[in-house]
Amino acid sequence: MTRIGIILGSTRPGRNGEAVGHWVLEVAKQRSDAQFELIDLLDYQLPHLDEAYPPAMGLYTQPHTLRWANTIASFDGFVMVTPEYNHSTSGALKNAIDFLYAEWNNKAVGFARVADQG
Ligand SMILES: Cc1cc2nc3c(=O)[nH]c(=O)nc-3n(C[C@H](O)[C@H](O)[C@H](O)COP(=O)(O)O)c2cc1C
Repeated sequence: MTRIGIILGSTRPGRNGEAVGHWVLEVAKQRSDAQFELIDLLDYQLPHLDEAYPPAMGLYTQPHTLRWANTIASFDGFVMVTPEYNHSTSGALKNAIDFLYAEWNNKAVGFARVADQG
């Protein structure tokens, strides 16, 4: 069955994104045509990008990169629950995206934005 990962894109203490991510998961689970799972960036503890080669080369060397790649490869699509920081996404989410390449290819993505203002 199609697997959709709901990525929690904020990592700060007290993040509202966690509640929003769980809400997205509950809404998504009302569908029966796909499986949904939360992917919490806090569980991966990715440092700032520390791979020597561009991810498109697929030459991952770090254990944290391989673990992150295995997780993302196991999903068919994603909902990124992104905080709005200075009118952009979080550094943590951008960094997590930049770690990989092939694992994201040809997969659909949607976004849920967490912000104080409309
Ligand atoms: C560093 C920082 C920058 C922010 N910049 C914006 C912004 O540009 N626009 C906005 O509407 N809210 C902004 N906010 C408010 C956040 O969007 C709000 O706190 C939201 O809950 C962030 O998601 P989080 O709680 O999961 O971290 C900012 C918050 C932080 C911590």
